[in-house]
Order: sequence, then C-alpha cells, then structure tokens
Amino acid sequence: MKKQNVDALVNLAARRAIILPAFNIYGDIGGFYDYGPLGFRIKNNIVGEWRRTFIESLGNLEVETTLISPAVVFEASGHLKNFADPIITCKKCSKSHRADKLLEELYQKRNDLEKLSGIKKMDFKEMGAAVEAEKIKCDSCGDPLKAEVKSFNLMMGTKIGPTGDLQAYMRPETAQGIFMDFKAIHRTGGMKLPIAIGQIGKVFRNEISPRKILIRMREFTQMELEYFFDPSEKDFQINNRKPDMGKALGTKLNFLSSELQASGKAEYEHISLKECVTKGYIPNEFMAYMLSIEVGFLERLGFKQEDIRFRQIVKEELPHYSLGNIDVEARLDSGFEEIIGNAYRTDFDLKNHEKYSKGDMSIVNGEKKLVPHVVELSFGLDRIFWTLLANSLYMDDKRGWEVLDTNRVVAPYSYVVLPLQKDEKLETQALNISDQLTKKGITNYYSASGSIGKRYARADETGIPYAVTADYQTLEDGTVTVRDRATAEQTRKKISEIA
Ligand code: GAP
Repeated sequence: MKKQNVDALVNLAARRAIILPAFNIYGDIGGFYDYGPLGFRIKNNIVGEWRRTFIESLGNLEVETTLISPAVVFEASGHLKNFADPIITCKKCSKSHRADKLLEELYQKRNDLEKLSGIKKMDFKEMGAAVEAEKIKCDSCGDPLKAEVKSFNLMMGTKIGPTGDLQAYMRPETAQGIFMDFKAIHRTGGMKLPIAIGQIGKVFRNEISPRKILIRMREFTQMELEYFFDPSEKDFQINNRKPDMGKALGTKLNFLSSELQASGKAEYEHISLKECVTKGYIPNEFMAYMLSIEVGFLERLGFKQEDIRFRQIVKEELPHYSLGNIDVEARLDSGFEEIIGNAYRTDFDLKNHEKYSKGDMSIVNGEKKLVPHVVELSFGLDRIFWTLLANSLYMDDKRGWEVLDTNRVVAPYSYVVLPLQKDEKLETQALNISDQLTKKGITNYYSASGSIGKRYARADETGIPYAVTADYQTLEDGTVTVRDRATAEQTRKKISEIA
C-alpha cells in the first residue's frame, strides 16, 4: 500500500464530512473547523486514550475551568506582554502574513535545514531583511513583501458586564485555570507531590495567518497536564508507586538536539532518554520520565516511530515561562509539525499569580512548605488528529480504493454490520447483530445501501477495522463472516465470538 499525501486526506475529509470549515455557508474566514460525526468520534477516542494514559493510569486529577478570564490573569501569566508573533503586512493589498512561517515554508521546500534552524534566532529586523532578500511575494496580490516586521499579540479580547468596563480575554492555553485552582485542590487533602492536574478544552488564538487545515487554527482544543513537583526530590513516586526509571530512561526515541539543529546535518538521531538527560538536552529526569510515557501514548494511537521526533527547543525560541522545552513533532508532507509542547515551567506561573493576586501559592508537601515547580505536557488535539490521519491514509491498488489504517483504539467504530444484499431477512438479522454488539459495548454501525464492495470501500477509507456480514448461512447456523480491514481476509465466526 502506498502512503497518500495531505491533499488526499483533505479530499477524504470533505467527501466523508470528517471535518468541515465552520460557517462555510457564509464563506470561510480561516482557522475555524467543525468536526463531522466520524471526525468527532475519532477525536473523542484520542481523548479517551489520553485520559487513560495521563489521568487514570497515573492517578492524576482532571478539571474544567473557564474559557474567559479577566485581564489581570494574563498580566500575571505574561501573555499580554509576551504572547506575540512576527507580522508583516503587504504594502499593496494590506494582507497580513506571519513572517517566520513564510521563511519556514520556503526553507522547508528547499530542505535547507541550516537556514530553517536559523529562523528561530532572528530578530524582527533580520526576519524582514530575509523575507525581502528571498523575494517572497504576497500570496494574495503577488507583490514582493517589503515591510517592517512587527509584533502582533495573539490574545482574543472581550468585555464582561453590561457597561463593558471589565476587559477580559479568551484563554490561549488551558493551563492558567489549573494554576489558579491548584492550591484549593491540593487543600482537599492527601496529595503527595508529584501530582498532576489535567484539563481538556478549547483555547483561542488570533493567529495572523491560519494554515494547513487543523495545524494553525484560531479556535482549537488542548489536552494539558500540569505536573506539580518538588525539584529537590530525587526519588519521586508516581501514583504511590516507584516508577521503573531504568526502563523509562532506556526508552529510545528520535531526538533533534539544539546542537544537531545548528549543524543542519540530520532530521534527528535515535538515542535514549538517558543520553538526552546526561547531555543536558532534557532539563530533568522527571521530564524524561513523562516523555517515555508520551512515546507509549503515541504508539498506541498508531503513530509509527519514523513519523515522530522530539525536538529540543533552542534558547532563543523558548516561551517566556520556560527553562527548557521539548516539542514532539509529527511528519507531514511539508515537514515536521509540533503536536505536543513539553515545558519546564518552573514556579514561574504560581509565583506570578502569587504576586498579582497578593496571595500565597505555597503548599505543605510532607514536612516541607514550598511553591512547587511544574513540568507541563501540552497536547494539541487537532494537530494530533490531523497528523495521525495524514500518516494513516494509504492507497491500495489491489483493492482499488483508499484505506485509513487506524488502530482500533482511535477508529470511529470497531465494526460495520452489513446484510449481504437487499433482502428483508438478511437486513433484520444484521440489525439484530448490530443491537447485540451495541449491548456488549462494541461500537458499530449498520450499513445497507450500495453494493457490498462499495460498503467495504466506505468502511476501509473511514478506518473501520472489521466488517461483519450477515448472509444466508447466518440465517441457518448463526455464523457470520468477519472481514479484517488490514488484510481484507474473511473468516467465519459465531456471532457470540465477536469481541
Ligand atoms: N500551555 C502551553 C502551550 O499552550 P503551545 O506550544 O503554545 O503551548 C501547545 O501549545 C500545543 O497546542 C502545540 O503543541 C500544538 O499542538 C497546539 N497548538 C498551538 N497553536 C495551535 C494552533 N494555532 N492551531 C492548532 N493547534 C495549536
């Protein structure tokens, strides 16, 4: 089977309404997408696996905090001052562009790894000069872009109350709600650090130029985990158990260190987490442990090792709150894209909320009073969804159609249930089977319209792992054929054996 390109996924997504541009009947304004029924199920399944891995298995907690916060929250977090991107505006047609991304796309196309890594180190003046020197044109009017690069804050503002006096903002990350509630949650008792609070929810960023479908959106979903820990504690426990650090640090992954980025010699090297810690690429062992869990999570979703790399963020590119970031990036046709941001946020956020609220964010952990440090795991759900599908879509020339090779854990349904042909008895039997599977908690849908071949094709391209067909033998002995999407082979089974 041959891997398809992103254009094929865009076609499939439109054909099967997996995702849809929002408010499209009024025209697309860019950066807003709806999830159709199949997309919604896949997205929810990714959420389910995240929750099992990072909340349930690790004994962590989950909250839901508000989408809107008063301005003071983002003064404290630093977002009002620092959360900005470089903007360049076309002098002829006034279209705005993100200057660093224009250069990134150009160098990615040329596969110039050295220049690509150089962008992160440019100041706005150098960026403007590079856009001009490269003769990059405005994609709207075709005029060469020759203008000053400025800073553009991505926060989306709103007003609270009838007089509109209180300036507020839509959250650009879910994290701040967690930081503000941390102490009150910790007070509910019995918690020993390290402990994480997670949150899944929408965030808003007024992106200058939304791009690549779900990759750069203006409203998107994050799954964030804020791990509170004592940085002086070497022997930490997770969920009351001693973690197997030997195994975790022995995990090998595709890693792009800042040194390798500067040399531009390779996309990554395959090394162990232990080596990453020893060489100082990863700020601490605790963070390395969490990265080992991310490796397993991505594998279970169905990412192949060669499509994922971990990238050390170079100093000049670090967010204002971080002492060390490791991004997880997934492969797309155009190059690697960040899907998870891991940051060592230290006590930056808790200390700043302490300062601006004039409160006390310290807690007592065992005998010790401290303001904990934080390692953050911030997952972009939409980017994970999109890059996973992009790396799962294949053309099978033998079958003559596309196959979405998803793992069962993310597939929109586990089974499609089909009557072999139009016949009332077969249809009743298939509907009964569908009901029996639903009662057993096995996700499935019934499909009767079109030839059996067309129905297999529809199931294959939407990632359904198994098809159950009720035929005339089913009416006699209660057995069905079960077709495996991976091989297209069929086996005969009793209905009760379907799991
Ligand atoms: N709390 C930290 C934080 O928000 P981030 O790196 O800005 O960090 C985390 O965002 C993740 O959110 C990214 O790794 C990416 O997957 C996703 N993300 C960021 N901006 C996005 C956008 N405009 N559209 C879709 N996903 C985005």
